[in-house]
Amino acid sequence: MNEPRLARLVSQHAMTSRLLGVDFVPSYQSGNPDRPVSEVVEAKPAPVSAKAPIFVAVDDRRSSARAALEALREQYIADAPHQHFVTDHHSIVFGEGDPCARLMFIGEAPGAEEDRTGRPFVGPAGQLLDKMIAAMGLGREDVYIANVLKTRPPNNATPTTEEARLCAPYLFEQIRIISPEAIVTLGRPASQLLLGTTESMGRLRGHWAQFPPPEPLAEVAGFDPIPVMPTYHPAYVLRQYTADTRQRVWSDLQQVMELLGLKARA
Ligand code: URA
Repeated sequence: MNEPRLARLVSQHAMTSRLLGVDFVPSYQSGNPDRPVSEVVEAKPAPVSAKAPIFVAVDDRRSSARAALEALREQYIADAPHQHFVTDHHSIVFGEGDPCARLMFIGEAPGAEEDRTGRPFVGPAGQLLDKMIAAMGLGREDVYIANVLKTRPPNNATPTTEEARLCAPYLFEQIRIISPEAIVTLGRPASQLLLGTTESMGRLRGHWAQFPPPEPLAEVAGFDPIPVMPTYHPAYVLRQYTADTRQRVWSDLQQVMELLGLKARA
């Protein structure tokens, strides 16, 4: 890893640690407690030639997933399910990230900044989400980020059940194409939609569930179940900025890290 990237990660971790109010930034690399992270800048890449065919296969899967997501985005635009409800949108915020991501985050709907840029989670909640992702040892480019609704609701209103139902097939298809190993649902609308429940976030968060739920939703028959970790929405964390809330979110993310074998990057 090059030095500026490592320095950026170390400082991101320090920032996240401060923001989430938890002490999880490893200041010494694992396996070598005497060597500070800041000295580890020259990891040598392994020779890759013997692995080349595998990389080609992964690249093939990535480009076909990317093409499938693009076709789905066009289908969404053509169908415009949001024409059936009130919006305040100027752009379609379809989702972004690695089409083969191992981890997917799902929020509720674009806000003002997302509507302006056409990108999910780029406003204040998105900045906190970026820090959560960095704290997990990942970059935004490693994950895929989507929302239940692809258009901004008026006054950032919470999506109704009917709005979520109309847009769900596109989100479910995004999940099927990306086929992540785990999903983090951010807040109530995404958690309730994927898990087919009306339970509160207080009950759902921190407990592994699966998508599709054991009582499968009719429109997602044929899916292999994907582990889902519901957690609080970053906008809620910003509103309830207590050590307790931040610690809960971090413990939810740590469960995801454990499942995926992720370590906060040293
Ligand atoms: N909140 C969301 O749920 N999604 C976004 O993209 C931004 C804010």
